[in-house]
Amino acid sequence: MASITVSTDSAMQEITTKELADKLTLPYSALNPDQIQLVITRRHIEIRAPDLGSPIFIDFEQGKNAHRRQFGGGRGQPLAKAIGLKKGATPTVIDATAGFGRDAFVLANLGCKITLIERNPIIAVLLDDALQRATDNPEIQQVITRMSLINQDAITYLSQLKQNRPDVIYMDPMYPSREKSALVKKDMRLLHELAGPDTDSEQLLTTARKVALKRVVVKRPKSASFVGKQKPTTSIESKNTRYDIYLAK
Ligand SMILES: C[S@@+](CC[C@H](N)C(=O)[O-])C[C@H]1O[C@@H](n2cnc3c(N)ncnc32)[C@H](O)[C@@H]1O
Repeated sequence: MASITVSTDSAMQEITTKELADKLTLPYSALNPDQIQLVITRRHIEIRAPDLGSPIFIDFEQGKNAHRRQFGGGRGQPLAKAIGLKKGATPTVIDATAGFGRDAFVLANLGCKITLIERNPIIAVLLDDALQRATDNPEIQQVITRMSLINQDAITYLSQLKQNRPDVIYMDPMYPSREKSALVKKDMRLLHELAGPDTDSEQLLTTARKVALKRVVVKRPKSASFVGKQKPTTSIESKNTRYDIYLAK
């Protein structure tokens, strides 16, 4: 994981910031534009990094998430079809690789109860902060109540799951070559820098297939190989993305 310090731009937040640094066992530091920093501001928690341009924080209320909520295509969009959303069928979902929570937010918005699992503690802090802020927004309050976050490794979580098995397990592991492409968006590059490549996606898929009641869905770049060479039952393709679907036996 990239080296990172915790800071604040507000004197009022100093104690909270030091507590967060302790919780994450990361150093507390003054603002420093040469470092990657998790910064508590008065409005939200964000990541600042050299070469990043504007800071990155997760926002379910405005920007891309809000746009996708309004214009993303509803239950007809490939992600919704892949997880099996139909009229009268709204599966429960575990998103085993929550990341910035974008896909999970789409599914919650379409009515799914979804558990977001994220193992990286910094990304989990950003997600938690975004969920808490959105709870106060009457427009999406209902959607947010369908989302719950767990900061744990999904392989461990799924292996220990005794009850409440989900209908669907969704996974979107970090693809190694994502960082190399000039087309890769800066938030995805940052995610890659913070979390590193996901080298255990094959094990995650194997575990998920034992747990999901109806299906496992794996999001891949369109031309990528199958995770662990495990051939899916079927796939759904969109412009740059492929959803590999493994139906439960
Ligand atoms: C490509 S991102 C997911 C992006 C996400 N689908 C979105 O819409 O924002 C992959 C994320 O999965 C997390 N991850 C990968 N393997 C995991 C595992 N076994 N358990 C929990 N989190 C995992 C990584 O830390 C990273 O944040």
